[in-house]
Amino acid sequence: MQFIDLKSQYQRVRESMNARIQAVLDHGQYILGGETVELEKQLAEFVGMKHCIAASSGTDTLLIALMALDIGPGDEVITSPFTFIATGEMIALAGAKPVFVDIDPRTYNIDPKLIEAAITPRTRAIMPVSLYGQCADFDAINAIASRHRLIVIEDGAQSLGATYKGKQSCGLSEIGSASFFPSKPLGCYGDGGALFTNDDALAKLMAEIRVHGQDRRYHHPRLGINGRFDTLQAAVLLAKLEIFDDEVAARSRIGARYAQLIDEAFASVSNPAQRVKAPWLAPECTSVYAQYTIEVADRPKVEEGMKARGIPTAVHYPVPLHLQPVFASLGQREGSFPVSEAAAKRVISLPMHPYLSDDQQVHVVKALKEAVAG
Ligand SMILES: Cc1ncc(COP(=O)(O)O)c(C=O)c1O
Repeated sequence: MQFIDLKSQYQRVRESMNARIQAVLDHGQYILGGETVELEKQLAEFVGMKHCIAASSGTDTLLIALMALDIGPGDEVITSPFTFIATGEMIALAGAKPVFVDIDPRTYNIDPKLIEAAITPRTRAIMPVSLYGQCADFDAINAIASRHRLIVIEDGAQSLGATYKGKQSCGLSEIGSASFFPSKPLGCYGDGGALFTNDDALAKLMAEIRVHGQDRRYHHPRLGINGRFDTLQAAVLLAKLEIFDDEVAARSRIGARYAQLIDEAFASVSNPAQRVKAPWLAPECTSVYAQYTIEVADRPKVEEGMKARGIPTAVHYPVPLHLQPVFASLGQREGSFPVSEAAAKRVISLPMHPYLSDDQQVHVVKALKEAVAG
């Protein structure tokens, strides 16, 4: 069994994928070529935002957004400590201070009730992460942001295709940022990412920062980065977009089936050490389950037990950002964000992709029951 099955997906779009890649090889415009523009148009439409700017990764897109907002030394950006390093890392790399706010234990996303206490005169933006494929609570976050005149940047690296109150992830605030890392719900065959906004001026700035801050060839009014997007990756994504709606629906169905199987397997277990917590889906959300992440009491035992039964698992993420050595200078310690710390000790992700069969899911949950029982 595979944790993520990219081969089945390739087989499904093989013809279209190969033709699109061949077209790029034939025209030879390898960087920001025509396919990129076509992809940006399709993605902007999908997300429901006026502009899409495809870039080199979902890390670089966060940096580009922060640079476009002129966020740097002396500024603070509020975010979640329970995320992949890139979120806090890019805030710090821009020169600003990441200010962590603990998460809602049900969704693992930033807890809006705790945000206002972290706002200072130096706060410029809030960067919520839509973790594991479920959007953060954007109505609550946007309301706080507008009261305090802050910009909201969604780190939607894991959530493209998910919806919140019927609206698409990456289209829920001033700026949305997506990742096309191969294992993401919409992944290319290398690194890639995209920014989304309705703001014409911001879109222009972000597109310029993507190409070394140039507004016309060899003319640079501001600093930028090499954040350009490969045309071959655009070709890959255009082929995958043809089946993306279908894959999103499959993810949703497979997530619901996991929840049902886990409920059936563990409903009668009363010993807390042998219980399993399945993901909670907020009623206003759909999830793309970039990860299908559960909580267990004794993770090392479950990891061992799953491995022994041939089921791959992964941990997203074992150490919250405030406890990472790189952020030691922020002065946070064990106990600063108890909900994130508890989650980091208990979470474990199961195999998840749109091509997981019912038999495979039954097999995973049976192995889980045995692994938890030890
Ligand atoms: C929450 C989050 N933010 C940012 C990133 C960075 O994306 P990329 O790997 O495309 O640079 C990731 C990717 O793993 C992520 O999960």
